[in-house]
Amino acid sequence: MSVEVIVLAAGKGTRMRSDTAKVLHEAAGRTLLDWVLDASRSLDPLESTVVIGHQAETVAATLPDGVTSVIQDPQHGTGHAAQVGLGNLTNHTGTIVVIPGDMPLITGQALLEFVAHHNETRAVATVMTVVLDDPSGYGRIVRGTTGVERIVEERDATPDHKTITEVNTSVYVFDAALLGDALESITPDNSQGEYYLTDVVAYFVDGGHRVSAFSVPAEMGIGVNTHGQLAEVASILRTRINADLLDSGVWMLDPSRVYIDADVVVDPTARIFPEVHLTGATIVGPGAVIGPNVQADTTKIGQDAVVKQAVMLEAIVGREALVGPFAYLRPGAVLERGAKVGTYVEIKGSTVGAGSKVPHLSYVGDATIGERTNIGAGTITVNYDGYKKYRTTIGDRVRIGSDTMLVAPVSIGDDAVTGAGSVITQNVPEGALGVSRDPQRNVDGYAEKRRKRAEKESG
Ligand code: UD1
Ligand code: CA
Repeated sequence: MSVEVIVLAAGKGTRMRSDTAKVLHEAAGRTLLDWVLDASRSLDPLESTVVIGHQAETVAATLPDGVTSVIQDPQHGTGHAAQVGLGNLTNHTGTIVVIPGDMPLITGQALLEFVAHHNETRAVATVMTVVLDDPSGYGRIVRGTTGVERIVEERDATPDHKTITEVNTSVYVFDAALLGDALESITPDNSQGEYYLTDVVAYFVDGGHRVSAFSVPAEMGIGVNTHGQLAEVASILRTRINADLLDSGVWMLDPSRVYIDADVVVDPTARIFPEVHLTGATIVGPGAVIGPNVQADTTKIGQDAVVKQAVMLEAIVGREALVGPFAYLRPGAVLERGAKVGTYVEIKGSTVGAGSKVPHLSYVGDATIGERTNIGAGTITVNYDGYKKYRTTIGDRVRIGSDTMLVAPVSIGDDAVTGAGSVITQNVPEGALGVSRDPQRNVDGYAEKRRKRAEKESG
């Protein structure tokens, strides 16, 4: 049976109090609309269209290939939105699934079961429902003897209706051939003066057709209208992501304090401590140990790497590398196998070769460091003269003395050494010592002389 999907996403989302269109708010690394479209993909739809209106251009720009959009302007309600969406679809032979763009907890599995249920019954429409302890604000499902009789919106509900706890999720499946006429027939005859999609139910029933309901767990029905609800759905999405990872074999000390976005890949043998935030296209390799307190965005963490108390943005941490505690890897930082970046170290646009170490208090920017080299504490690559950035090249088995300033562009040959406290402005050849500092001078008996002078002065 062929399926076409209409996603309703034209509304303003006033209660978010935000300039961003409601459906573009993110939860666990994807927009609300992406979550809905992702779930709808399980239906393998012939066509998908998104009804947009508020910030139409921005929303349209985020749509994946194969999903079209249509503008609803002005927005005369959900029934009008469905009509605009239907007009943008060409097929209309099987069933039409309508989903609101603000329901990110709906799963592909639930949608599949929902459509299967619809196809098994002789109903012309099926409404996805949830039962809520507090149904206020939602459309109530009024059931008759053979199925759903109608849906009553909160604003139009009688006290009797208000006691009904089964509510409309706004996810529907319709027989495509009948939906157009139904949408033509509804009127804005209600307290809001809008065309309600919910009114097609009574239209079908009055025409002698059957409408059925399909109930799903309450969690799936949570729509995002406020930041409170956004935080709630984000928390549920994270719980689902972590549950899948735990099932796969990942160890987490406390999953409630681990924040992993939808597109992150974590190997089942990884171990994760609390307060870890993994976002973007981050990949965690086998046996890697992450946290506590790590933020990694679009960073690749290699096999058996250990990362503690670190911020890593678009970085690559090689196999068996050690990062932290208190390290900052900025875009283009590449740590090769077994490299170490330690405490209070910042690395940007630089490669730290295999087995090389930058253990303490350093800034390494725009540099290439070879293998088995040690960068002494307090070393800085002076890469910026206020106008341009320059590169520093350091060879294999080099020993950069503590507190060396490497004024780029500069190059240090293999096996070379720099004296502690040097300001290196010229290349150091292979195997050489580069040192630049004043020779030391000792003043004998200085402390004694200083004390006598002070005594004389104070009388
Ligand atoms: C709607 C249902 C209600 C249901 C609830 C579930 C109606 C009349 N009511 O109410 O029964 O319990 O959802 O969350 O349908 N939209 C448009 N164009 C419009 C109006 C809305 O595209 O002109 C879109 C919105 O962007 C949103 C969706 O339709 O994604 C639902 O609209 P919303 O205003 O949130 O409806 P509710 O009042 O929540
Ligand atoms: Ca809503």
